[in-house]
Amino acid sequence: MNPVIETFSLTKRFGSNTAVNALSLRIEKGEVFGILGPNGAGKSTLLSMLCTILKPTSGTATVNGFDILRQHHEIRQSIGIVFQDPSVDADMTGLENLQMHADLYDVPVSEVGERITSVLRLVQLEDRASDYLSTYSGGMRRRLEIARGLLHYPKVLFLDEPTIGLDPQSREHMWDHIRMLRKREDMTIILTTHYMEEADRLCDRVAIIDHGRIVALDKPSVLKKSLGGDTIILGIKDGESLRALLVGNGMAEKVEVHNGEVRVTVANANILLPRIMEAAATAGIYIDYVYLNHPDMNDVFIHYTGRDLRHEEAKAPMGKMAMMRRRRVR
Ligand SMILES: Nc1ncnc2c1ncn2[C@@H]1O[C@H](COP(=O)(O)OP(=O)(O)OP(=O)(O)O)[C@@H](O)[C@H]1O
Ligand SMILES: [Mg+2]
Repeated sequence: MNPVIETFSLTKRFGSNTAVNALSLRIEKGEVFGILGPNGAGKSTLLSMLCTILKPTSGTATVNGFDILRQHHEIRQSIGIVFQDPSVDADMTGLENLQMHADLYDVPVSEVGERITSVLRLVQLEDRASDYLSTYSGGMRRRLEIARGLLHYPKVLFLDEPTIGLDPQSREHMWDHIRMLRKREDMTIILTTHYMEEADRLCDRVAIIDHGRIVALDKPSVLKKSLGGDTIILGIKDGESLRALLVGNGMAEKVEVHNGEVRVTVANANILLPRIMEAAATAGIYIDYVYLNHPDMNDVFIHYTGRDLRHEEAKAPMGKMAMMRRRRVR
C-alpha cells in the first residue's frame, strides 16, 4: 500500500532543543491516526512540518506523494489544517470566514455556495452562519475551524487537539464527524490529543511520542495488551500463603506480595478470578477484598512515558475512568 504520509528521519531543532528527533513513520490511506504525548513532546512541531509551515532541520517527509521540502503549494492544496490555537477571525461572521478561506484555496466560484452549506451542516452551525464569531462559544468556534479545514475537500486532514475545550457531548459529536468524514470522504485524518479516551475510541493507530521520538506505535488494543494483561489485586493478611498456592498449582506466574496485597498479572482476569477465589476458599485462605484492573490507554501512556499527563483538562475524564475500571468485586 502507498502511504499517504511517510517521514524519513524528520528532525526539528530550536537552538539546542530537539523538538522532533529523527522521526520515521508511515500513515496509510483512510486511517485515523492519533499522536499522543505530554506537553512539549513535539506533536504540534511534527504537524507544522508536515503542513509545510515549519522547515525541518534535517530529514524529510512526503504528504500525498509530495515532498515537504520542495512542494509546499501542492501539499497545502491537498490538506486541511485545524490548528491548536484558535485562528478564526472574530470580527467576521462565520460565513465571511468561510468565504475568505474558499478564496484563499481557489475553490471554484460555482461550487463555493454549495460547499459552504455542506460544511456548515456537517458541524451544525447553519443557523449561526450570519453571526459574528465574537458571539460564538469556544466550542462553536472550534467547529467553525473544522468546517473551514474541510472546505476545499482535502485528502488529508490535520487536527491539532480537535476537541480541546469541548464539552463531553460536543466531543462525542466531533468523534462522529471525524468517523463519518473518514468513511464518506475517504479522508486520512491525523490528530493530536491529550485525551486518552479519544486516542482509544477514535484512532485506528496511535503513536505515543515523548521528547520528539516515537516510544510506541500500534492499534490501541495492541498497545493495551502489550502491558502484559489484567491485574487482580487481592487484599489479604497472609499474602505469602496465597502466592505459594497460586504459583504452586500453576495458576499464575507473575504474583507479587506488597503491603498486604497480592497482585496477580494474568492474560484474562475474568476467567482466572473465580478459580483463584475457589482455590483460596478450599485452602482456607480468607480474602478481604478484590480489585480488577484492565489496562487502559492511561496505563499505556504512563508505561511508555513514565509519567501522567500534565494537561489540566485531561485530568477530569481520566480520573473518572480510573475509578470506573478499578472495580471492587467483594
Ligand atoms: N517556535 C518555537 N521556537 C522555539 N521552541 C519551540 C517553538 N515551537 C516549539 N518549541 C519547542 O519545541 C518543543 C515541542 O513543542 P510542541 O509545541 O511541538 O509540543 P506539543 O507536543 O505540541 O505540546 P502541547 O501538548 O503542549 O501542545 C517544546 O520544547 C517547545 O518549547
Ligand atoms: Mg501542541
